[in-house]
Amino acid sequence: MTTGPEAPKIPAHIAVIMDGNGRWAKEKGLHRVRGHEEGAETVRRITRECTRLGVKRLTLYAFSSDNWKRPAHEVEFLMALLQRYLAGERREIMENRIRFRTIGRRTGLPDEVRREIDDLVEVSRTNPGMVLSLALNYGGREEIVDAARRIAEDARRGIVDPAAIDEVTFGKYLYDPGAEDPDLLIRTGGDVRVSNFLLWQISYTELWVTPVKWPDFTVELLREAIRDFSARERRFGGIADE
Ligand code: IPE
Ligand code: IPE
Ligand code: MG
Repeated sequence: MTTGPEAPKIPAHIAVIMDGNGRWAKEKGLHRVRGHEEGAETVRRITRECTRLGVKRLTLYAFSSDNWKRPAHEVEFLMALLQRYLAGERREIMENRIRFRTIGRRTGLPDEVRREIDDLVEVSRTNPGMVLSLALNYGGREEIVDAARRIAEDARRGIVDPAAIDEVTFGKYLYDPGAEDPDLLIRTGGDVRVSNFLLWQISYTELWVTPVKWPDFTVELLREAIRDFSARERRFGGIADE
């Protein structure tokens, strides 16, 4: 296998905690929501670059199940921005043959947002390119609880034998059962924490944190993260290859 700076290994699945929009805006004397608008531009840039690099799946944390705690006007702005983004990206998504998906709880999302999601998921369903998965109203614990509840229901109906439940069975009850675990998790904004993102899936994911806030995140930084990832040795609990 070729390694080294000339030919970095491209992670098949990159997940991103897009953090720091509010602080980016505040720093400039702007309202927090301006940071979210600018962040949507970064989403476009990074999605395009990941397609170009041959990434198979990009999962973006766009709205957490805990973000409802924010002031109503910010939540409303984010939902409106999301709706605008979904409608506005349709063409780009189709042109780049991206398959669009979401993870998270549908309940709670405004009807208009749900309609845009369903529409985009449906029109892009057979696209052969990168999967773009947006985590919306997403919480890692919620995902595990939702899976456990559905397994329990299936067990009660006799569809699943409780004694036979293993990691593979459990994985089938997660929000996107077809998704491989992320290889690389990037967090912008400098905080070194997971904030309830993909708790089940990141057991052996490589973490990469940058102090750069999401609106300022660039394709160069993405390439730097990928180079760092490339140079790491993943052992999965085993020992290094001789
Ligand atoms: C991330 O930026 C976007 C969302 C959580 C929706 P923040 O809004 O969390 O920005 P900071 O972390 O407050 O700077
Ligand atoms: C994580 O960022 C959620 C998203 C990026 C959508 P938060 O800003 O919500 O996380 P905390 O509050 O800093 O942990
Ligand atoms: Mg934040």
